[in-house]
Amino acid sequence: MKVAIIGANGQLGTDLVEVFSPKQNVISLTHAEIEITDIDNVKKVLTSVKPDLLLNTAAYNKVPDAEKNPIEAFKINALGVRNLAKICQDEKIRFLHYSTDYVFDGKKQMPYTENDMPNPLNVYGNTKLSGEYFALNYCEYSFVVRVSGIYGKVPGRSKGNNFITSILKQAKERPEVKVVNDEVLTPTPTLWIAKNTLELVQANSYGLYHMSCEGEVSWYEFAKTIWEELKIKTPLHPASVKDFPSLVKRPFYSVLENQKLKTLGINQMPDWKEALVEFLKKNNI
Ligand SMILES: NC(=O)c1ccc[n+]([C@@H]2O[C@H](COP(=O)([O-])OP(=O)(O)OC[C@H]3O[C@@H](n4cnc5c(N)ncnc54)[C@H](OP(=O)(O)O)[C@@H]3O)[C@@H](O)[C@H]2O)c1
Repeated sequence: MKVAIIGANGQLGTDLVEVFSPKQNVISLTHAEIEITDIDNVKKVLTSVKPDLLLNTAAYNKVPDAEKNPIEAFKINALGVRNLAKICQDEKIRFLHYSTDYVFDGKKQMPYTENDMPNPLNVYGNTKLSGEYFALNYCEYSFVVRVSGIYGKVPGRSKGNNFITSILKQAKERPEVKVVNDEVLTPTPTLWIAKNTLELVQANSYGLYHMSCEGEVSWYEFAKTIWEELKIKTPLHPASVKDFPSLVKRPFYSVLENQKLKTLGINQMPDWKEALVEFLKKNNI
């Protein structure tokens, strides 16, 4: 199978390339090679590469900046996905697109399944939800995979970091570190998302999927585990979202339940703590 991966040098894209490469013919597409907001360019690239499957990790994912640049965010997260979905439909290319837990408002306070109604609180979540609809409604061979709190060995390209790189920098540079204890989610390594994506595309059942680690944790508890594992001496304190004034409204609870992966019998996602400990060891952190 020929698999084209958009955002191949990004956080998730890097692990997708690594996991898919031994078994599939992988074509890595970086931003220099494809511009998803330009439908003529998308058509030119995809008709020349002729993949059987397209994986899209490209996104405008600087959440606070999206509040100030909603049009730019919509162009990439919604219209860019529409372009990909349209061309995939025309060229009969199977299409897998990644979305986010931020499509939910957090009021449920229990894990969200694929059947729960989204209600995004911010521009980023709204544009990502629109992208989901374009993917699912413009291409009949599409998967949409919602992920949450992702971290990989290559930090997010657009943000220049992920939670782990950012918290370790703070531990080095600050006398003490404060982390919010009232945002609960399930941080997930991109390597596991890549592995479970390979399983999913082989199952061939299109539609919407949740794909995060098992269990749930606040960002503070997650940081505390990193402190314990790495024996960090810098004092770590729990804080509230209110202590960090921001333009962006975020869900206080955005845990995803991998209900559809479980129904198909292909949920491979480990517990968040097991995955975190493995990640720290594997990457010599
Ligand atoms: N970070 C999180 O915690 C989180 C949580 C939930 C969901 N997600 C979703 O997970 C997915 C992967 O995120 P990530 O952290 O791997 O992102 P990332 O590291 O920022 O990678 C995104 C990639 O897409 C490329 N790209 C950006 N705009 C493009 C465009 N217009 N055309 C073509 N390529 C473009 C970027 O290239 P350049 O850098 O060269 O522009 C980069 O290679 C995204 O869909 C994101 O919304 C992330």
